[in-house]
Amino acid sequence: MERLRFVLPKRRLLKDSLKILKRAGIELSIPKGRELITRRKKYELLLARAFDIPVYVEHGIDVGICGSDVFEERSCDVLVPLELPFGRCKLSVAMPRERAVGVEEMEGFKIATKYPNVTSKFFEERDIPVEVMKLHGSVELAPKVGIADAIVDIVETGRTLRVNDLVEVEKVMDVSVLLLVNRISQKTKFEVLNNLIASLRRVVDEWER
Ligand code: PRP
Repeated sequence: MERLRFVLPKRRLLKDSLKILKRAGIELSIPKGRELITRRKKYELLLARAFDIPVYVEHGIDVGICGSDVFEERSCDVLVPLELPFGRCKLSVAMPRERAVGVEEMEGFKIATKYPNVTSKFFEERDIPVEVMKLHGSVELAPKVGIADAIVDIVETGRTLRVNDLVEVEKVMDVSVLLLVNRISQKTKFEVLNNLIASLRRVVDEWER
């Protein structure tokens, strides 16, 4: 039997992803040390950067899990059969507390973000021209040291904003965690994937009870 291949994010969502899959009857073992892949009899687990998960699934990995923030940013051609019940947060525009203004007043602003596509779309829809500056992390630093005016980033507990003297100005989108399935696998591995999705759906229903 051909193995089912999963790609999961290395950091944040890994623990809950493994937990929900285990409850659905799929026990994956994590690669050891610096290894990025484990192969077992029925399953293969790949660990990747969160932003690359949709790319792996589009290009042939059967199943992936990532945030809707990343899914929007990468806009890949994959199936999304299910929303998972953990990792909810939001993507927001934030600014230094002492200079905070509304989004409508941000014309000409430099906006630092890991989400250049989502950010450009958000400001374009409002017809507010801004300069988007792509960073790879620690985005809160940019307005603090004056290389950007505002940021678009994930807010979960709000702690990172607070300790960096930033305030949320406006929500860009609610973020939830998504199950991704490769379009071709959905056909070629129809039965096994259908069973997986049905099991996960049952676990999702029970998860918060
Ligand atoms: C994320 C995000 C914020 C922070 C939000 O960063 O980019 O910085 O978490 O969480 P909070 O509201 O609970 O403080 P992450 O830890 O993934 O690191 P990064 O800055 O390198 O992206």
